[in-house]
Amino acid sequence: MAKDEIILAFESSCDETSVAVIKNGDKILSNIIATQINSHKRFGGVVPEVASRHHVEEITIIIDDALTEAGISYEDVDAVAVTYGPGLVGSLLIGVTAAKTIAYAHHLPLIPVNHMAGHIYAAAFVTKLQYPVLALMVSGGHTELVMLTGPAEFSIIGETRDDAAGEAYDKIGRVLGISYPAGKEIDRLAHLGKDTFGFPRAMDNSDDLDFSFSGLKSAFINTVHHADQLHQELSHEDLAASFQAAVVDVLVDKTMTALQEHPVKQLIVAGGVAANQGLREALGARLATEMPDVELIVPPLRLCGDNAAMVGAAAHILRGKNVFAGETLNAEPNLNFARA
Ligand code: KG4
Ligand code: ZN
Repeated sequence: MAKDEIILAFESSCDETSVAVIKNGDKILSNIIATQINSHKRFGGVVPEVASRHHVEEITIIIDDALTEAGISYEDVDAVAVTYGPGLVGSLLIGVTAAKTIAYAHHLPLIPVNHMAGHIYAAAFVTKLQYPVLALMVSGGHTELVMLTGPAEFSIIGETRDDAAGEAYDKIGRVLGISYPAGKEIDRLAHLGKDTFGFPRAMDNSDDLDFSFSGLKSAFINTVHHADQLHQELSHEDLAASFQAAVVDVLVDKTMTALQEHPVKQLIVAGGVAANQGLREALGARLATEMPDVELIVPPLRLCGDNAAMVGAAAHILRGKNVFAGETLNAEPNLNFARA
């Protein structure tokens, strides 16, 4: 029997410092995540300098925790993997430097991982992928439809022209006095209200697979400000339900169009917004009635947000393709997949 493959993986692209130990690409031996959300809450978003400082303070402790929880030492590790982009440059550099140092000191290969590839490969912990696969990547920084034609072969077939879906949640949350990140709370409120405001479904009827959320965001903010000026109280539950219905309608419609144009067996929903209950329910329902043969893969909640386990899963695929980096690996804040 072949020896188990152990990957030590790093993620520090935004406001979570995470180190994981992954066995054979789909077993999590440890996945330590230190979130900085409380430090950024009072600023209403992530402050890059504060984020970098937290990563520096946390990372060595988290490496120790990850190794201890997995019950392994450096001798057991076969490769070191790290997110090198996209993300905040100062944050990325902490993970990249830590991973490079460990790889160099222990003579281990270094695997460079795209953060979005990580989010998508969180699905590997749920089931075995059968290519081609379509991924709806929805996070605070990204909204993309990504085709995987084979292992780690990505191309973007649709993307947002302005705000990301999670970013729109966070921005309208601020108007309702909900602290950053607002997605989860708006999702909760949405289930208590009704879609009464009829917000725009931007680009829903366009010929391409692109998204736009800034018009929806403006419509929402104008509605709230207008009511404020008239000293009217609007139901936060109905506002949240109306906003969420507009986001979910467009995400689901575009994903169904993409599935018609690019037949696949599996659909992955990835990224922080994949935690959204409204999106999960709506996609599940549409697939069940219109495309029951397409398997919907949504990672468990803990693997939807930023974490190093997903980086280890993507790194396993890259190792199989001999994708390695040298000591010159640098952070690439604007790293992206190619557009189809
Ligand atoms: O993937 P992630 O942790 O970080 C990025 O790579 O951006 O995504 C964070 C985003 C935030 O914008 C947050 O508001 C959103 O995911 N989010 C949600 C939910 N949970 C987190 N958005 C909608 N509904 C949720 N339940
Ligand atoms: Zn992310």
